[in-house]
Amino acid sequence: MTGVAGRFVVLAVTGSIAVYKMVELARHLVQSGATVQVVMTKSAAEFVTPLTFQALTHRPVEIEMFSMQDERAAGHVAMGRQADVVVVAPATAHVLARLAHGFSDDLVATTVLATSAPVIVAPAMETHMWQNAATQANVAALRARGVRVVDPETGPLASGDIGPGRLASLERIEAAIDEAIGVPQGLAGRSVVVTAGPTVEAIDPVRFISNRSSGKMGYAIAAAARDAGAEVTLISGPTALVPPAGVRTFPVESADDMKDAILAHLPRADVVIMAAAVADYRPVERVTTKLKKKDLGNEMIVRMTENPDLLKAIVAARRASTVVVGFKAETGDATAEAGRMLREKKLDLVVANDVAGDREVFGSDEDEVAFVSADGVERLPRLKKTEVARRLIEKLSERLAR
Ligand code: CTP
Repeated sequence: MTGVAGRFVVLAVTGSIAVYKMVELARHLVQSGATVQVVMTKSAAEFVTPLTFQALTHRPVEIEMFSMQDERAAGHVAMGRQADVVVVAPATAHVLARLAHGFSDDLVATTVLATSAPVIVAPAMETHMWQNAATQANVAALRARGVRVVDPETGPLASGDIGPGRLASLERIEAAIDEAIGVPQGLAGRSVVVTAGPTVEAIDPVRFISNRSSGKMGYAIAAAARDAGAEVTLISGPTALVPPAGVRTFPVESADDMKDAILAHLPRADVVIMAAAVADYRPVERVTTKLKKKDLGNEMIVRMTENPDLLKAIVAARRASTVVVGFKAETGDATAEAGRMLREKKLDLVVANDVAGDREVFGSDEDEVAFVSADGVERLPRLKKTEVARRLIEKLSERLAR
């Protein structure tokens, strides 16, 4: 899933057997950094319990119009107003008819009526119901009003028939959401190289020295760059993360491997973002047979030597127009250190990160950073890493547009 980070998605679920597929959609949207508010019709709640959606979205599922009115004034229209996009999926023949005629007799219909955000409907029903002139007229009326319809697909249906009526694939629904939200394509036609994760420096075939980098920031940046239209190469040390779809991922281990992979992709790169936690040192020699305790005795001494500075190598080899971004984690004044790094290493931007105190950074989904560049220091509040990534990509898009 793509550019929904930080956006408010209302997922309106109506009563079809395809409801279960929305569990996966809700999960994807949340993982992509969206706030997802699920609204269900009473019949949808017969197929999948609201609790399932609630657990995945971390928000109460709304069904009743009037319980919301207890909480806040005009609660039944609040959701439509807050939404960046309203997705009605699966949309039954019944809900299509009610939406086409502007009903407001339940929360799904009222939310659609009250919103000025884009509305997407993804119909799912039995073939004859879909092909019926009444349904087709309702769909045509909705389309004429600007509602985006993700047409159902042809395939085996719950009724046992085979024909049109199957809910569109999640990929198609997600693509419609992205298009509706209008993720800015500031990096269209650009090539972006992102590094992520730790590097692993081998001592022998089974032992290594590494660090606690989770890779989350780099992966989020790769996904955000892809969403902004870039062709993305992700060079990643070992992580537990699933590579983002639509991104070319090259797994590497050591700093040396990472350097080779970056230099191979550098000639085409418009942007290089060094989010990886490159090990500063590696064992002087990597022995090819496993070290034995009986040979080592009660002490093991590993002599380390400095790794190549990858940012230095990149800056030395880049085209003048290639934008290079570094990261600086400090327990002291991170922005001052970042400023020094910016000048000394001739970078275009440094993401400064204060890792002091009890703030969790490694493995966390959130981060508090500042962007340091020739333009000055831009401090961001504590944000989800996906949102930090989106803002970094936005900033780089602006810079490339100049
Ligand atoms: N980096 C690099 N090559 C290395 C080590 C780090 O290119 N051999 C990059 C990292 O990818 C990151 C930045 O340099 O973008 C981090 O710079 P560094 O000076 O190592 O900062 P810290 O690790 O934050 O600080 P310290 O000097 O305390 O190690």
